[in-house]
Order: sequence, then structure tokens, then C-alpha cells
Amino acid sequence: MATNRTFTMLKPDSIENGNIGNILQMITDAGFSIKAMKYTQLTESQAKEFYAVHAERPFYAELVEYMTSGPIIAAILEKDNAVVDFRTLIGATDPSEAEEGTIRSKYAESKGRNAVHGSDSDENAAIEGNFHFTGAEIF
Ligand code: CMP
Repeated sequence: MATNRTFTMLKPDSIENGNIGNILQMITDAGFSIKAMKYTQLTESQAKEFYAVHAERPFYAELVEYMTSGPIIAAILEKDNAVVDFRTLIGATDPSEAEEGTIRSKYAESKGRNAVHGSDSDENAAIEGNFHFTGAEIF
């Protein structure tokens, strides 16, 4: 059954390009409420662990290097059908394939520098949220 929470990161390109405010506005305008949020920078070991599922992929080293290259914003979001609706809001991984009006179609630069992360399942949303936040940081 779908749960009502998902996990997101605004990636280093969003911060570098000055898009924090615009992206958060799109997220809240779409009906998501923020249950947890932090501005932080991933260490290499955190990024390797977070993306361990991609460890065998050719882009893994590049992904870890990129995700540790600058600060990110991590957040837990709440809305009915959160995982699916958030992936619709952000659009396809490759911005050239992202639907018009999605966050990635507006703000992503490439498959790697693609502005935002969104959990791909309820199970991963819970794992990823718990990776970044303690119980006391979630409201
Ligand atoms: P995300 O959905 O956050 O999680 C996995 C990430 O791997 C994905 O976003 C992309 O940023 C990245 N990724 C996927 N495919 C490629 C690729 N071919 N080259 C570089 N990065 C990729």
C-alpha cells in the first residue's frame, strides 16, 4: 500500500544555480508538506552508502564525486501518494526526456546534474529518510 511520505535531495547543481527557493516553491505548490529538512554536505562514505544500490553501475564514481561536491538539501515530504506524485513532479532522470513543467525540465542540466532526487518506492523512502534524519528531526 502506498504511504504518504517520500524523501528528496536538492542536489549540488540546484544550490550552485540559485534554485533552492524556486524548487521548494514548486514542491509546496504541488501540495507536499515538509516533515524534515536539512542543509548539509555528504561525506564520501555517506554518498557511497546512500547510492550503494548503484555500486556496480559505470556512473557510480562520478555520482559519488558529484554528490559530495557541494551542499545539498535533504527533506522528507508528505502528501497522499507521495512517492508516485513526487516522481511525476520531478520528471524523468534525463532532463531531455522530462515532461514540460517538471522540476527537472526546468532546472536540471544533465542526467548526473539533475537537480533533485526522489525515492523510487515507499520502502526506499523510509530507508532514505532514516538515513538522513533521526526521529527527533522528523515532525
Ligand atoms: P537519482 O534518481 O537521484 O539516483 C541515481 C542517480 O544516478 C540519478 O539520480 C542520476 O543523477 C544518476 N545517474 C543515472 N544515470 C546516470 C548516468 N548515465 N550518468 C550519470 N549519472 C547518472
